[in-house]
Amino acid sequence: MSSTADKGATKRSVTVTLDGSNRSASLPLVSGTLGPDVFDIRKLHGELGVFTFDPGYGATASCESRITYIDGDEGVLLYRGYPIEQLAEKSDFLEVAYLLLNGDLPDAKQFEDFHQGVTRHTMLHEQIRRFYDGFRRDAHPMAIICGVVGALSAFYHDSLDINDARQREIAAFRLIAKVPTIAAWAYKYSIGQPFMYPRNDLGYAENFLYMLNAVPAEQWQGNPILSRAMDRILVLHADHEQNASTSTVRLAGSTGANPYACIAAGIAALWGPAHGGANEAVLKMLAEIERPENIPAFIDGVKDKSSHHKLMGFGHRVYKNFDPRAKIMQQTCHEVLRELGIKDEPMLDLAMELERIALSDDYFIQRKLYPNVDFYSGIILKAMGIPTSMFTVLFAVARTVGWVSQWKEMIEDPAQRIGRPRQIYTGAPQRDYVPIGRRG
Ligand code: SDX
Repeated sequence: MSSTADKGATKRSVTVTLDGSNRSASLPLVSGTLGPDVFDIRKLHGELGVFTFDPGYGATASCESRITYIDGDEGVLLYRGYPIEQLAEKSDFLEVAYLLLNGDLPDAKQFEDFHQGVTRHTMLHEQIRRFYDGFRRDAHPMAIICGVVGALSAFYHDSLDINDARQREIAAFRLIAKVPTIAAWAYKYSIGQPFMYPRNDLGYAENFLYMLNAVPAEQWQGNPILSRAMDRILVLHADHEQNASTSTVRLAGSTGANPYACIAAGIAALWGPAHGGANEAVLKMLAEIERPENIPAFIDGVKDKSSHHKLMGFGHRVYKNFDPRAKIMQQTCHEVLRELGIKDEPMLDLAMELERIALSDDYFIQRKLYPNVDFYSGIILKAMGIPTSMFTVLFAVARTVGWVSQWKEMIEDPAQRIGRPRQIYTGAPQRDYVPIGRRG
């Protein structure tokens, strides 16, 4: 294997024997730079004739990656080795985007070039405006951005050759630059206001807020504290290793599909309430609970499996401790409310009481269920005046950077092959076709 991870990965052989048979295979046990060792089982079927079974991929590393590391027991999240807490406090979204895409923090010249590369691509082709008219005004913005991002491949034929490094770079710039414009226009369309063209003199987060909130009839007054909060929210959501939407992007990309199609696939996967859709679902849940007195009954409901209800914004496949992003989110939430002069926000009080009750409940303690990134983000966004239907869209804007970085890493990995899982077949054994008149 000669992939990008070769420098970081070391291997030793371990012999695996099939119980009850005399068949054994020598499999490499691979150590990365951080995290548990993994068995490289690629030769397992060839040598022992068996596959592994891992629905939901809870025990399977699907790729080698150098981008993001999570220690779920310790609540650690690193982008290219840098702790999320440091990046959230000291860096900004565009610098983090450079880091995720390129592996290291930029020097001043590299950052200037990158900044230029992104801002030069913020506008959309004028024909794309017409797409919006084809949607109902009450369409969910996630439905719109999924369609419009996928359609970018019909406009930018000069960046579809995935084997050309420069074209990959241009596609990355286009996606990072245009997704906020596409997202803001989806919102403007839903409320019947004119589309606002991007302003390249503003920062990335500030421009996004501008396109969402400004109107041509009035001078727009930004708020640096809110822009900074938005930027931090984008940093916190930028990447999260092989989550469901990123894995979707990688799987789509493994077929050689163009980058715009792959990111559209990621957006579709993100929309689900178990994933990025949870931030919107948290607010609906809080509205449903309404008052602190109703929390115990609600908690009883989510513990009852037949209810099919979950405590939204709680639990995580990898974090079995606090999601470090949730802590920063809670802090940011207080800052935003202070800035906006909101002394009393019943929804925040309700969320904090819900968190307190859940964290002291045996059901949640035993299953190690903690608040995740989505628990507080909705409350901040709501306070900032962002409509609920845009919460997941905002997640998608930020995660586009992670998706593009992971897609690029995959394409540049010589060990990359089409993703193609196997299955345990439990259907009917082979049988002969019987004409309809002779059945039953
Ligand atoms: C994101 O993967 C990522 O990295 C995603 C993400 C990213 O940045 O990309 O971090 C973003 O998607 C955050 C997660 C947002 N989703 C939610 O907040 C929805 C509510 N949470 C869940 O549905 C759930 O916790 C998941 C989907 C997040 C994780 O699911 P897992 O890993 O498959 O966990 P599980 O369903 O196997 O749960 C284990 C047990 C089960 O109970 P038992 O069958 O053992 O009795 O915990 C229970 C679950 O029923 N459980 C919950 C619960 N989450 C898990 N019970 C009540 N409420 C919950 N929220």
